[in-house]
Amino acid sequence: MTDPIRKIMVSSALPYANGSIHMGHLVEYVQSDIWARFQKLRGHQCTYICAADAHGTPIMIKAREQGVTPEELVTRVAAEQHEDLKAFGIAFDNFHTTHSEECKQIVYRIYHALKDAGHIYTKVIEQAYDEQENMFLPDRFVCGTCPRCKSDDQYGDACEACGATYAPNDLIDPISVLSGRKPVWKNSEHYFFRLSNFAERLRTWIKSAELHPHITSKLEEWFSAGLQDWDISRDAPYFGFKIPDTDDKYFYVWLDAPIGYLASFLHLCARREDLDFEAYWNADSANEVYHFIGKDIVYFHTLFWPAVLDGAGLRMPTSVFAHGFLTVNGKKMSKSRGTFIKARTYLDNLNPNHLRYYYAAKLGPGMDDIDLNLDDFRARVNSDLIGKLVNIASRCAGFISKRFAGKLATALDDEALFSEITAESETIAEHYEKREYSKAMRIIMASADKANRYIESKKPWLMIKRESQADDVQAVCTQGLNLFRTLMIYLTPVLPAMASDAQKLFREEPWSWSQAATPLLGQTINRYEPLLTRIEATQVERMVEQSRQTVEKAEAADESTTISIDDFMKVDLRVARITHAEAVEGADKLLRLTLDLGDETRNVFAGIKAAYKAEDLVGRHVIAVANLAPRKMRFGVSEGMVLASGPGGSEIFLLSVDDGASPGMRVK
Ligand code: 2FM
Ligand code: ZN
Repeated sequence: MTDPIRKIMVSSALPYANGSIHMGHLVEYVQSDIWARFQKLRGHQCTYICAADAHGTPIMIKAREQGVTPEELVTRVAAEQHEDLKAFGIAFDNFHTTHSEECKQIVYRIYHALKDAGHIYTKVIEQAYDEQENMFLPDRFVCGTCPRCKSDDQYGDACEACGATYAPNDLIDPISVLSGRKPVWKNSEHYFFRLSNFAERLRTWIKSAELHPHITSKLEEWFSAGLQDWDISRDAPYFGFKIPDTDDKYFYVWLDAPIGYLASFLHLCARREDLDFEAYWNADSANEVYHFIGKDIVYFHTLFWPAVLDGAGLRMPTSVFAHGFLTVNGKKMSKSRGTFIKARTYLDNLNPNHLRYYYAAKLGPGMDDIDLNLDDFRARVNSDLIGKLVNIASRCAGFISKRFAGKLATALDDEALFSEITAESETIAEHYEKREYSKAMRIIMASADKANRYIESKKPWLMIKRESQADDVQAVCTQGLNLFRTLMIYLTPVLPAMASDAQKLFREEPWSWSQAATPLLGQTINRYEPLLTRIEATQVERMVEQSRQTVEKAEAADESTTISIDDFMKVDLRVARITHAEAVEGADKLLRLTLDLGDETRNVFAGIKAAYKAEDLVGRHVIAVANLAPRKMRFGVSEGMVLASGPGGSEIFLLSVDDGASPGMRVK
């Protein structure tokens, strides 16, 4: 290693703690994990951090729906997400949460610094408000008809049908997603970050960050449209950190989300003596900071985030790396097609190494989308990993164990070939460094082809049968195994679990990159155990089928516990006056009620005899379902239903209404 040791912090975007990790998320975690592992393998001090993105309205609402506190929801979901990620070999040095003391402390520090420097101001804005839920509505919680193309059911910020962007009050017939009611527009004081103060500083940063052209061309568009100041506050109720000196204002989740990177780092500093938070994050720090993100959150990371850091007197990121989205079989992931595949469903059927390799073989440094074509996935993994890579070891290791007591030869059979392959080391390293993983994989697989051609040409399985050549098999297989070992060192960032098994085969400690250049000779190795198995078509089919079923089950569970607002609106509830009540002969539990519904009279049988005397009911105002289909019973036709609560028997309580309500009034 000739490079000086670099101090590098790497982050991947913080997953919202309200759903499961799926194949789309994994593109980023695999991409960043490979990069962090590569840096460590090269001997650098690399710290890879992440955290749960805990705050915001969707998490607050989801917790409410599930009858738990947001803290409980976040703790449970974040633990599941972290487990799934670990199972894919994603090895964060720390996985923390934005709902933490560390995050709160840094949010306040940054806010005060920005405020003191004059980068924060307040302004009254008008926003959609749900009067039933008593809350302001984020744009995505308002739905209506697109003002441009007139498509129904579009969110308040953009139309998915025609791509138009607008404000929620531009929608035709807007409704609140929470209550189904029309929102009103109310004023509220909000806190703004003066992004416009940072135009020059950002331009300088953009040059030094050497951002990918896909990002810089986006930035050009945003700069020419003019940098807009940023609303960093939200009104209560909100799950987040309260803004100092206010009673009902909170920091917007997107302010504290990237601060979660620092919070996770600070949390790690408590147990790592070699990391010093202040030294790392001060404005002049020479250490490196890289954020891996998806292309949808470039604006936050290349404008707001560096400006916030700079405004608060902290260092800006060294660079930001953005990737594209994932499609499956050429299309957006789809629940009905079974291509919305959760990490857990994948793990139940397939080996994480397979996916890590496939993504690596497809990934480049830009924002192009990548496709997980399931047939190609199986073919590529079987051909490259099993047919080429594993094949080298499996064809050589057996002879070493059986015929040479596990001992490698003391010299290679073809040093020139070994050198040819190790000569690629720096080119491969450069590709990893530049996130050109697909190029690195191509070189490695071309080397695997060379290794296989070498073994084919020697045919140790025939040599071993010829007395004159049997002894040479040791050198040939030592050659093959060393080529395999070198390639496995190059592949360690991509296939960490397989690399660790290969280290066991060679009885070695965790590798460093430079070891790839030196062959392992004269050592005794372990017996070969299969390192990876082929992907069978049935495994992929089962995963797709299970993904489809998981969605169907979730939808069925949803349907059995909830009804839509439209379903509810179908129920015609009316105030009814009981004009007559009598016991029904031959029926133990029933009373026959005559109901006055204002413009008509109904006959209804109600199972309330154990709880009420007939004569006590006359004159009471109750609530009736007026549009229930008539039901023929043994004693006559029941033409509706009265609403009551309680477990039954004598404990039944009719729902009644206050004085002033009159028969026929609609219940709302
Ligand atoms: O888009 C998202 O999924 C966000 N939870 C990412 C946050 S990244 C960072 F800023 F914290
Ligand atoms: Zn539209």
